[in-house]
Amino acid sequence: MNRHTPIGTAMQRSVDEITQGRRLRRMRKADWSRRLVQENRLTVDDLIWPVFAIEGENRRESIAAMPGVERLSPDLLAREAERAARLGIPALAIFPNVDMSLRDETGSNILVADNLINRATRAIKDAVPEIGVITDVALDPFTSHGHDGILRDGIIVNDETVAQIAAAAVLQAEAGADVIAPSDMMDGRIGAIRDALDAAGHQDVAIMSYATKFASAFYGPYREAIGTGGLLKGDKKTYYIDPANTDEAVRETEQDLAEGADMIMVKPGLPYLDIVHRLKATFAVPTFAYQVSGEYAMIEAASANGWLDGERAMMESLLAFKRAGCDGILTYFAPRVAELLQR
Ligand code: PBG
Repeated sequence: MNRHTPIGTAMQRSVDEITQGRRLRRMRKADWSRRLVQENRLTVDDLIWPVFAIEGENRRESIAAMPGVERLSPDLLAREAERAARLGIPALAIFPNVDMSLRDETGSNILVADNLINRATRAIKDAVPEIGVITDVALDPFTSHGHDGILRDGIIVNDETVAQIAAAAVLQAEAGADVIAPSDMMDGRIGAIRDALDAAGHQDVAIMSYATKFASAFYGPYREAIGTGGLLKGDKKTYYIDPANTDEAVRETEQDLAEGADMIMVKPGLPYLDIVHRLKATFAVPTFAYQVSGEYAMIEAASANGWLDGERAMMESLLAFKRAGCDGILTYFAPRVAELLQR
């Protein structure tokens, strides 16, 4: 192109002729008008804070792949729950890093009433009864092989696993969990957990189904956090959903709702917002997404390198969940976001 050509001569019609006077920039011109037409908003009520438990008292450990996130002993988790309540965060989700000596082939420690996750739940509920506690009922923190189910002859056996997590869900409810969130993707688990909770008198304990959990690379840092990274043999493709599939996510969700799920969740989050959007449009039920450890680590790493503005990327990524149709988001950023929103 001849750089001496006046720009105007390249245009056959004026912008007014092209747009017929419709100029979308009009409403973007000032802060007041941008605020006025903003369609989605992130508030503290949208946040669920996932936390990691370790044994002991007054103990904290950092997690290399998750800068700013720590494993905490139950007493310190209770202090964090107080902080969460002050910030207005509605709920915490607890994940235990179980002592290696307690892990075995079947994950039997999940059936011990005063195991780590249940003690952490009690400590939090004793300190802050009004905060919501969500517990994951999968076997992976408890097994010596890091899988979410009982492993026999190289196969994750479905029905035996379901019976075990249904029994574990009752113990978690007895410890004070308000919501049971099974993340294992075994068939039939929602119905079995509902039956077990009801039979034990826990009709008011809700179920948040990890309805669509994908076999994803983005869980890496979490496996360091709960200590399954070095243990896991093989992958989870025989029970998590293939990242290529959408219809299958719809069928999983339909099934979980029919079995009694009160809320559904999509996991991971940002790479799967199309799934969130489709599920919300299809089922119109409370829909959540998990901004998983790898998503958190990517933003933190780029920010630490000065490659992006970490705070803005954090807020933008969470707003994207709202735009896609989420009622709430599980995010390790929860306390930081809540503090930012308070200012
Ligand atoms: C497994 C479980 C996973 C996460 C929570 N529970 C996935 C896995 O290890 O396969 C991931 C959470 C995260 O990455 O933040 N039941």
